[in-house]
Amino acid sequence: MRLTRRYRFSASHRLDTPVLTVEENRCLYGKCNNPYGHGHDYVLDVTVEGPLDTSGRVADRSALDALVARQVIDRLDHKNLNADVPDLASAVPTTENLASAIRQILVKSWTLPARLKRIRISETDRNIFELEADR
Ligand code: NI
Repeated sequence: MRLTRRYRFSASHRLDTPVLTVEENRCLYGKCNNPYGHGHDYVLDVTVEGPLDTSGRVADRSALDALVARQVIDRLDHKNLNADVPDLASAVPTTENLASAIRQILVKSWTLPARLKRIRISETDRNIFELEADR
């Protein structure tokens, strides 16, 4: 059985890499390279998988919510992804890299009996990224 819980957070970022010139960055990332950044309302879906427990549930939702809140939402919500998030310090904060960082954070801190199966993050209605977690 799988359960997906949905979470929301808002954060700002700027896509820019030091390996390219100012002009190359502007050309590659377009508006996402604007000097003072921009924000997104991200939607994060966390999917867990496992057998049902004696209560008839696949996971304790409050335990899952507490873990995601403490490990992910508190770290990212209303933050600047370029400056405030050590897990992204060496990466351009694309939503692909953000998804990888969230997976890594969750895998490292996972304490629930159900397996972490997948994370999915929407940056906009049209940009949705998904990663298998298998933990
Ligand atoms: Ni953006």
